[in-house]
Amino acid sequence: MNAQTNTETRAVIGTDKAAYRNYAAPQISEAQQRVREFYRLNHTHQTHDFARAKKAEFLSFSRQRMTPWDALDYLNTLVDDSDPDTALPQIDHLVQTAEAMRADGQPDWMVLTGFVHDLGKVLCLFGEPQWAVVGDTFPTGCAYSPKIVYGEFFKHNADASNAELQTKHGVYKANCGLDQVHMSWGHDEYLYHLLRDHLPMEALYMIRYHSFYSWHKEGDYDHLCDAQDRAMLPWVQRFNPYDLYSKNPNRPVLKDVKPYYEDLMAKYLPAQLQF
Ligand SMILES: [Fe+2]
Ligand SMILES: [Fe+2]
Repeated sequence: MNAQTNTETRAVIGTDKAAYRNYAAPQISEAQQRVREFYRLNHTHQTHDFARAKKAEFLSFSRQRMTPWDALDYLNTLVDDSDPDTALPQIDHLVQTAEAMRADGQPDWMVLTGFVHDLGKVLCLFGEPQWAVVGDTFPTGCAYSPKIVYGEFFKHNADASNAELQTKHGVYKANCGLDQVHMSWGHDEYLYHLLRDHLPMEALYMIRYHSFYSWHKEGDYDHLCDAQDRAMLPWVQRFNPYDLYSKNPNRPVLKDVKPYYEDLMAKYLPAQLQF
């Protein structure tokens, strides 16, 4: 976690979309080095066993009860090391994402999804390192897509030398459905389980797979998908531009929009959540 305010990679609304998620600019800035080091750690340590162990550790939800607002307050202190596009605190990113959806007239459950989609980053509050919380996600236990960013670092992953885990389907059956797949562990999977009883399926797909770029952006891993995954993919893709292109360095004023989001949270979520 850090509070870097490097302005070099901040993206501004209205700039060329190619400027976002640019991991390979000719001159490596301090922020890009931070992202690169992040993925070195992430791809080295996110093994199949690690992903399963973290599910066992965190999906019992035995840590603490908090209101969703308490969790959002905590996110105010967090800057995501894996994000090359913003150095603003997370709460600003959530407000920007949701407000862009609201301005476009998206359904209210989707606006709420935009507002909470990174709430799972409270895992950092429980002492988890950023490489186990944020960044693009990928299936563990099978071959890595060549489209995954910084894929060269998978050579340091213990699973890379286990032939059984490096076949196309690995430990999975063809078209088993993504629900059966152990994704690399992080805030997406955690928040999905936290909110699974409260939001529509489309929203839950957005939350669970919003960082699975090699699937929703690159079109890989269809061989692990079932009919439901394919039906939900357009919703994940509909979510993505708001997550990505709403990032801009102008800090939104939370208090101006807070009453709207308080009502929206009250409509869909319980007053307290068991984290
Ligand atoms: Fe996220
Ligand atoms: Fe996000």
